[in-house]
Amino acid sequence: MSSPSTIPPSAQMFGMITGFWLSQIIGVAAKLKIADHLRAGPKSAQELATVTGAEPSALFRVLRAAASVGVFQLGADNRFSLTPLGETLASGVPGSMREMAIMQTSKGHWLPWGKLDEAVRTGQPQAVATLGCELFQHYAAAPEEAAAFSAAMGNLSALVASEVATHVDTIGLTRAVDIGGAEGTLIAALLANNPSLEGIVFDLPHVKGTTEAKLAAQGLLGRCTVVSGDFFKTVPSADLYILKQILHDWNDEQAAAILRNCAASMTPRGRVAIVEMVIPDDGAPTAAQLMDVNMLAILPGRERTQAEYSALLADSGLRFERLVATHSPFQILLGTKS
Ligand SMILES: C[S@@+](CC[C@H](N)C(=O)[O-])C[C@H]1O[C@@H](n2cnc3c(N)ncnc32)[C@H](O)[C@@H]1O
Repeated sequence: MSSPSTIPPSAQMFGMITGFWLSQIIGVAAKLKIADHLRAGPKSAQELATVTGAEPSALFRVLRAAASVGVFQLGADNRFSLTPLGETLASGVPGSMREMAIMQTSKGHWLPWGKLDEAVRTGQPQAVATLGCELFQHYAAAPEEAAAFSAAMGNLSALVASEVATHVDTIGLTRAVDIGGAEGTLIAALLANNPSLEGIVFDLPHVKGTTEAKLAAQGLLGRCTVVSGDFFKTVPSADLYILKQILHDWNDEQAAAILRNCAASMTPRGRVAIVEMVIPDDGAPTAAQLMDVNMLAILPGRERTQAEYSALLADSGLRFERLVATHSPFQILLGTKS
């Protein structure tokens, strides 16, 4: 097999142009729980079709395509087995990306991305044009997709949760709030690290049920409550505010409004921990540049540089302290009251 640099540019470009074929192939495999079914051992397309309700020859073709890029392995006996890459599509395993695959190929993300050209022409996100309403209203009206979205956020948060728990000091703090915390993956990591800390997951009303179920399954509901509300109006009082991939959803004015609400409700020793993909100053290729276009297509937000986050904090009565790099695509920006 050729290394990327020896692939002719037109062939490389063909691979990039058809990247969405792969997204959909992986999305279908995730929705049909193919990886879960293969955990018990190799299976034919016919066997997998029986348990998933799919049409056997269509399923074979999709899984053969997935096997061609290493997601599954197709044996000489025409049975599919799991590879380490395919394992990441299993439900609930460490490092699972299953819900991410479902979420990216479901309406809320897929349809606005189809109008990226319009977003670039107009500078406007395409949620309303394609979904008929803003993204989070769409999720409020589509419970199954909303649950996949929250769990997908959990997939990504799990990549950085233990490092957030290590780098964000909670010693001596009473209460932390995970602002727009979805399934509460980060607050759960902080609570595990500090048994005397109380937690709140603050999110929109439609998120409450799935978040409570997730916290209950971890035995955390006693120490962590789920509070429904709108962070543009007010947020609960706490010593620590975690904001992971919250500010990037919104424009500068909206992001500053959220931070100002945190500053207004925080205790005198209060602080914020912002977890985002920070745009590097040196132009190094990272996940942040692509995530920024995800925002452009769907939401009013953007990815920002460290200086831009520092300015946002200053505009909100908070002071940027330092940036902590992690082994994930995320960085942690720590801030305090000025
Ligand atoms: C990009 S997700 C991040 C989820 C979570 N912080 C994580 O990274 O795992 C944004 C979250 O903000 C929540 N959200 C959106 N608008 C909100 C609002 N006005 N008030 C409170 N939460 C909101 C969404 O429901 C969603 O859970």
